[in-house]
Amino acid sequence: MDLIIKNGTIVTSSEIYKADIGIFNGRIVAIGETLTSDGAIVVDATDKMVLPGAIDVHTHLAMPFGGTVSADSYLAGTRAAACGGVTTVFDYPMQRKGMSIKEVIDSKKAICEEEACIDYAFHCIITDLNDGEIIDEMESAVQDGITSFKCFFVYKKEGMMVDDGTFARLLLKAKEVGAMINLHAENPDLIDYYVNQFKAEGKLSPWYHYLSRPEFVEAEADKRAVHWAKHLKAPLYIVHMANKEGLEAVIEAKKEGNNDIYVETCPQYLEFTNAVYKREDGRNFVCSPPMKGQESQDALWKAIKNGDIDVVATDHCPFQSYEKDWGKDDFTKIPNGCAGVENLYPYMLSAAGEGKITYNRAVELCSTNPAKIFGCTHKGHIAVGKDADIVIYDPQKEFTISVDTMHSDYDHTIWEGKTLKGYPVQTYSRGKLVYDNEHFVGEPGWGQFIQRARRMSNEEKNNISSDRS
Ligand code: URP
Ligand code: ZN
Ligand code: ZN
Repeated sequence: MDLIIKNGTIVTSSEIYKADIGIFNGRIVAIGETLTSDGAIVVDATDKMVLPGAIDVHTHLAMPFGGTVSADSYLAGTRAAACGGVTTVFDYPMQRKGMSIKEVIDSKKAICEEEACIDYAFHCIITDLNDGEIIDEMESAVQDGITSFKCFFVYKKEGMMVDDGTFARLLLKAKEVGAMINLHAENPDLIDYYVNQFKAEGKLSPWYHYLSRPEFVEAEADKRAVHWAKHLKAPLYIVHMANKEGLEAVIEAKKEGNNDIYVETCPQYLEFTNAVYKREDGRNFVCSPPMKGQESQDALWKAIKNGDIDVVATDHCPFQSYEKDWGKDDFTKIPNGCAGVENLYPYMLSAAGEGKITYNRAVELCSTNPAKIFGCTHKGHIAVGKDADIVIYDPQKEFTISVDTMHSDYDHTIWEGKTLKGYPVQTYSRGKLVYDNEHFVGEPGWGQFIQRARRMSNEEKNNISSDRS
């Protein structure tokens, strides 16, 4: 062993117990009561919790969007992630008309090889099928470890939206090749209708961003997507769920036995309601889907508590203040997106500290489930054989979020002033210390690409279990 974490309380998605963890060559090699090893570095975690690193499966780093590029590079975004106890990010590179999946992924891999401070994987956004070439390419992409693809039902004028036919082809091909489709679900025509109406009426404050995309606009698209996934028997992962009615449609489908339909929400929807769009700085909260009313937030928390939501991830897509200011007098000019990657795990663990959920559930939502759903077999758990992606967490430490104490490149945060009960004190990425007491101590280029395995469909899983019985 080259590193031993001693005397800590290990928290997994299902257990809490005291034990030492022995690490060798970036992997957990022993868990036991009083581990010793000559020459190993010993870290004392007395009175601390020892958790698997979070996996933020929804980031947009250096993404061209909204007339600019999101403010965090791969370096800044993964540095900030490490400082918030995130040890893996899943980014969303975007394919455009004429580009192959391989081209897009290879160009991002080249950047990450130089810049990524923690491990990374990619879901590839598909915006154009290139006359069907993309459908043909999906199988080889899966062999290259890209086992999830994303579609947008929105961003029509930005050329990112897919139509229903394209969505159906992607769902079916993903099912065939062992992949999954992730979806941003909102109804584009309803949004256009409202936006045009509000513009004509001169209603241009951030509140009208919310009113042009209210609850039912998101719910309509959620329900449509769930309907398709159910009937095509294809896996579906709905990203950033923010409304009650759509969430209920997913929960209903799961209850009917559609186990390959998953739902993610984000901390911003759990913390803020649409009231933020009436604030003077409302433009800083503009993201899509927008924060919703109290009823939706209550439904999200209920599903967080009772197990109906699968994943909490961030949709980290920050823009600088001067870019948000483009929309000071016209909400349609505000680049959509907010910061969050450094706040995910602290926020959910603080919710555990406050008694809203258990620590096990926080670990399940932010680490174990993302690893399982997206095929990171070596991550998401503290067990022998897993990567030593470990967070040492002080449940007593009080921390107030401020842009000055974050490690991103953005100049403001929607989380400013939020007080947390508990905070990470150290983060290890494959056994290497990358964050230590509010300081980043990692290095760009340390992160490795995660080659994910092909997904097994529920039908395949069922066939295996019936062969065995
Ligand atoms: O407003 C958001 N969410 N921006 C990032 C792109 C997306 O829709 O996920
Ligand atoms: Zn989205
Ligand atoms: Zn997103």
